[in-house]
Amino acid sequence: MIEKKMSKALNNQLNAELYSAYLYLSMAAYFGSEDFAGFSNWMRIQAQEELTHAMKFYDYITQRGGRVILTSIEEPPSEWHSPQAAFEHVYEHECKVTGLINELVNLALSEGDHATNNFLQWFVAEQVEEEESASAVLQKVKLADDSLGSLFMIDNELGQRVFHPPAEEK
Ligand code: FEO
Repeated sequence: MIEKKMSKALNNQLNAELYSAYLYLSMAAYFGSEDFAGFSNWMRIQAQEELTHAMKFYDYITQRGGRVILTSIEEPPSEWHSPQAAFEHVYEHECKVTGLINELVNLALSEGDHATNNFLQWFVAEQVEEEESASAVLQKVKLADDSLGSLFMIDNELGQRVFHPPAEEK
């Protein structure tokens, strides 16, 4: 049985993962409206991944005898000045999520909850990839330096991204 304090913190992270999905879906809509179908595809898949992250928290809380409590999800922004501004936001957001995961690990360790620490290690590794993939696209977009030709080449590349369901992850 999971302690109330830990369960509440994991519920907060469930909300944060749902917010991430909301944020990236909003970015998908923004890029779609700007006719960047590939950027939009990348964001849509990112949103799908965030939903799988949220469900991992949902399932773990339930498995440990905790109670999932869903709270309101903050409204995400809907406009960005440029693809670069959007990807700077993605990178900053992922760094923030890494911080949240680290805080959860600290709490699990201070509470002596080794099962939760073990569960969270998947997210510790995932955040390394999340920061890396956001940073990789951001660097490309920066190099494009507002050149429409270069941006459309990146758009074409990001259009190739496909969603891998959780069973196929790692
Ligand atoms: Fe759920 Fe993008 O980390």
